[in-house]
Amino acid sequence: MKYNLAIIGGGPAGYVAAERAGDKALSVVIFEKNELGGVCLNEGCIPTKTLLYSAKVYDTSKTSEKYGVSNANTSFDIKAIMKRKDKVVKKLVGGVGAKMKHAKANVVKEAAVLTSRNADGVHISAGGEDYLAENVMICTGSEAFIPPIPGLDIKSDIILTNREILALNELPDSLVIIGGGVIGMEFASFYNSFGAKVTVIEMLDKILGEMDAELSAMLQDIYQKRGVEIHLLAKVVEVKGNKVLFEKDGKITEVEAEKILVSVGRRPVTKGLGLENLGVELFKGGIKVDEQMRTNVPNIYAAGDVTGFSLLAHTAYREAEVVVNNLTGRKDIMRYKAIPSVVYTNPEFSGVGHTEKSAKAAGIDFKIAQLPMAYAGRFIAENEGGSGLCKVLVGAKYGEVLGVHMLGNPSSELIYGASMAIENELSIKELEELVFPHPTVSEIFRETIFSVK
Ligand code: NAI
Repeated sequence: MKYNLAIIGGGPAGYVAAERAGDKALSVVIFEKNELGGVCLNEGCIPTKTLLYSAKVYDTSKTSEKYGVSNANTSFDIKAIMKRKDKVVKKLVGGVGAKMKHAKANVVKEAAVLTSRNADGVHISAGGEDYLAENVMICTGSEAFIPPIPGLDIKSDIILTNREILALNELPDSLVIIGGGVIGMEFASFYNSFGAKVTVIEMLDKILGEMDAELSAMLQDIYQKRGVEIHLLAKVVEVKGNKVLFEKDGKITEVEAEKILVSVGRRPVTKGLGLENLGVELFKGGIKVDEQMRTNVPNIYAAGDVTGFSLLAHTAYREAEVVVNNLTGRKDIMRYKAIPSVVYTNPEFSGVGHTEKSAKAAGIDFKIAQLPMAYAGRFIAENEGGSGLCKVLVGAKYGEVLGVHMLGNPSSELIYGASMAIENELSIKELEELVFPHPTVSEIFRETIFSVK
């Protein structure tokens, strides 16, 4: 049989494409050599957020007396926390399987290789069988980048990536994290909550890369006060067993820990797919695509982390939908200006659109307003002693929202409102006329809009 769409990779891009294509009555085959759900579901977004929720419950329980609730018996069981994480992952992986059935997609649990593109279609080999498809979508995701640091041996059971750390069933006494990006700070948060000594070594002058600088510094301060040691402008030069040696201001410092997490970024997975058999072009290590997610080869599309562009599951969803929409007659293009980023620390840190740095770099004339999260009554009610900030950037001439950045809970649930404003180029005048539910923390967005001068 000839499929309308063959999907290589069953992560967020792949399974959403299969679901949407099924809805549109396309015949679909989806190849996945591991579990459905990809990194996000099996060793990324979902397991980490499940663990971080346990940490949040524990943090809240430890401080519950601030809310008039006794906490005499607060304790935790790391094995039970890990077991719950496994249960959540299993349930959701099962859910993706059910969605594939609903979409009538043929799930092939094998590694797929593109073999040729002929007049009859694209040929794919998997598990010794030949499959034929009209169109192919490549969504093989990304893997942890291991930098060439002397002594950093990924085979050692001391050195972990996001994958191995999720399989730890014991709490390490101490953890050194190489790279203070999203993965690094989320695991720093988890292990700090449960009492491990955490040290973060970050090469740049700030944690969390492109996130708003002021709010990143506030979050850094919060974690340092909780005992996380954070070294900025620090370059790891060597690893010797349990010891990490880093250079800062020309001086070498050594930190020792039971485990070492490497979280210095991820790289697209493009090897072993037979891309060379079809002449699929790469760009900066990822598969090169246009705004419709088309590669340079007709009928071959790519979506998700494999494009190396925006390594986020929610970007992957939308990119996959762009592919399916174009295949089924709805003209659609991928836009990146309103994709939210969330760091699930406690407090959560969320942002969308321009930061001050990116707006300045783009030569945009903008105004800025900011308010403490505590300006929202609900925030005070639920965050005893909590601090945080909401920052809004608007265009100086038309007052359109350019960027929104929030540090505070539950900003991960609020930021989509700002994404809608940015995507639709809503102005502060239009937003001022919107009614927000009261009392909610979301009102901070409205209040900050009113404070733009
Ligand atoms: P990242 O790019 O967020 O951060 C890596 C950090 O490591 C950077 O700050 C970089 O300066 C630093 N670094 C690089 N080499 C270094 C070295 N030799 N020594 C010290 N520091 C060094 O990458 P991360 O945290 O590995 O995450 C990978 C991807 O996964 C990201 O693109 C992120 O978007 C995604 N992700 C998203 C999450 C979310 O949306 N909440 C959660 C986890 C991951």
